[in-house]
Amino acid sequence: MQFALIGGTGVENFSLTEQRVLTVETPFGEVEPMVGKLSGREIVFLSRHGRDHATPPHLVNYRANIWALHALGVRKVLATAAVGSLSPNYHLGELVLLEQFLDFTKSRPQTFYEGGDRGVLHVDMTEPYCASVRKVILDVSQKIGIVVKDGACYVCTEGPRFETPAEIRMFQKLGADLVGMTSVPEVVLARELGMCYASIGMVTNEAAGIAAHLLSHAEVTESLKNLSLKVTRLLQATFEVLDPSQSCWCPSANQEVGKF
Ligand code: HPA
Repeated sequence: MQFALIGGTGVENFSLTEQRVLTVETPFGEVEPMVGKLSGREIVFLSRHGRDHATPPHLVNYRANIWALHALGVRKVLATAAVGSLSPNYHLGELVLLEQFLDFTKSRPQTFYEGGDRGVLHVDMTEPYCASVRKVILDVSQKIGIVVKDGACYVCTEGPRFETPAEIRMFQKLGADLVGMTSVPEVVLARELGMCYASIGMVTNEAAGIAAHLLSHAEVTESLKNLSLKVTRLLQATFEVLDPSQSCWCPSANQEVGKF
């Protein structure tokens, strides 16, 4: 099982054949991913917030999720993330690959390397989202005629509340393009275990203070109805051509300290 999808809000299901639910024990708790096949390839699917959106962003068990995928042999992770846009370059209804992040989370364990037997790792984050997987997604998107933009800087907020307009103005000044609540620490933990990770932002709303109305989860889920079909087609086509070998830096990210 070399490939996985972590589905964010709006991608709570992913159609696979021969589907079954596994129970994976991790040092951080139990995870129940779905496993199945897509064009003969085994894919692991994990709904980040649970199938009924029961887990808010700050309470997602990121370490258990990523540990479980790694334990199943996953080497390449595709993820989706609902995002608000702070930038005139990215619009409602668009798909955008994340390239950099700013971390404004507050309460989340961020590492597997907690000292002692586990060691200390200062993992490199020069290119947090795997460049080679991002290129595959872009190539596939062109082939199947789905517009995907690239190069966004994502700011991760703690949530679960939306941001204030003052925070959004600050994030704009800092260079952020998109705002969401889940990509950190997920992307960091995947890198710590040497997995490739790429995330497709689904722009569901204009960020607070840019939109001429108040923000609501209903607006986000309404926008996602259209976006979900598009992103699912893109994900399916990407999984069909994704190469299991890792010709990037991702697998050597933890070599200074070693692998679990
Ligand atoms: N802010 C934070 N997270 C989000 C947003 C937003 O505007 N839209 C979708 N997820």
